[in-house]
Amino acid sequence: MLHVWQANWGFRIAECPCDLHLTDYITERAITDKTIYHFGTGDHHHVGISQAENGSRNSVLGITASTGEHESYVQLVIQRPEIVRWYNAVFGDIYMVNRQLLPDLDIVTLFHICEFRTEQNDSYGALTDREMLDLLTDKLRPGGLMMFFPGSYAWKMAEPIVNAWAEQPNIAFVEKYKSLIIYKKLANGR
Ligand SMILES: C[S@@+](CC[C@H](N)C(=O)[O-])C[C@H]1O[C@@H](n2cnc3c(N)ncnc32)[C@H](O)[C@@H]1O
Repeated sequence: MLHVWQANWGFRIAECPCDLHLTDYITERAITDKTIYHFGTGDHHHVGISQAENGSRNSVLGITASTGEHESYVQLVIQRPEIVRWYNAVFGDIYMVNRQLLPDLDIVTLFHICEFRTEQNDSYGALTDREMLDLLTDKLRPGGLMMFFPGSYAWKMAEPIVNAWAEQPNIAFVEKYKSLIIYKKLANGR
């Protein structure tokens, strides 16, 4: 059985400000015309809705493992069809991500890396956290941004994976922004 996430996550900024800080960053840096892959839509769909509403022409491909969150996405775009051009949300497991089904990406948000993966994902041959990170790094365009959320409850597990990944010559630390840390994929080595 697929490792379904049995909850619907509201916009709980005190606990989990990562999505808000992502959209603050996009607004502050005037980021436009980018393709964003977003791990964990939430039931609020803030990232997708905000980009569809703000005229940035940023396109968001979200993934959720929650049937309730996916159903709220379906209802959202039925009620507000103008959203669907800029925001698509897929139901699935990020650890089953398929490079052939992904566009080239400019921003990847792995705020929830290491939070949800268990033996249940192993049972159907899902990628590991590092394999998923590597695959999404491959899909980043040169200059593209990989973002993490050290406020995650799983950061203790994620940090060594991210640090080892960041040692690669084509990855550069960019900055900390509010609750996020941001790396860039370089064209070649440093
Ligand atoms: C705690 S919620 C956070 C939602 C949103 N990013 C926020 O910060 O408000 C975790 C999100 O991760 C998603 N999720 C959990 N396991 C997943 C998986 N294996 N693949 C894709 N998404 C998953 C859930 O469906 C949910 O949207």
